Amino acid sequence: TIIAEDFGHLISEHRDAEGALLPILHAIQDVCGYIPDAAHPLICDALNITQAELHGVISFYHDFRKKPAGRHVLKVCRAEACQSVGGDAVAATLLDRLGLDWHGTTHNGAVTVEPVYCLGLCACGPAAMVDGRVVGRVDAAKLDALLAEAGV
Ligand code: FES
Repeated sequence: TIIAEDFGHLISEHRDAEGALLPILHAIQDVCGYIPDAAHPLICDALNITQAELHGVISFYHDFRKKPAGRHVLKVCRAEACQSVGGDAVAATLLDRLGLDWHGTTHNGAVTVEPVYCLGLCACGPAAMVDGRVVGRVDAAKLDALLAEAGV
């Protein structure tokens, strides 16, 4: 487990950089997989920002997690090119099938679902990504296969 001292170390590595908040958040998420509440006061102190400002930034950037993710992370592209070729239906099917909202995790901890805004695979939309591996032309059948593979 990560302790306050480790957060302090990660924070001090980046605090003098311009726009230090994003590099600090990325560094913490790289180590922990999410931004633990315990890190919030340390970040606010180091950068002289309020908790409200910090929450605003964490919520604005879709990449930052407030809770640990499941064993697998399934991201579905929500950007325009994918939406125009059926991405909305894929996203709705996914959330419906799992009974989750975005950023939710299945009860067995197998999968966390997250929206993403363009994976650079627009020509092969709807696009998704499982644990960093991109998948194109996702439809209901492919979704089923991906979920089964992930242990849902
Ligand atoms: Fe979905 Fe670019 S819009 S990959």
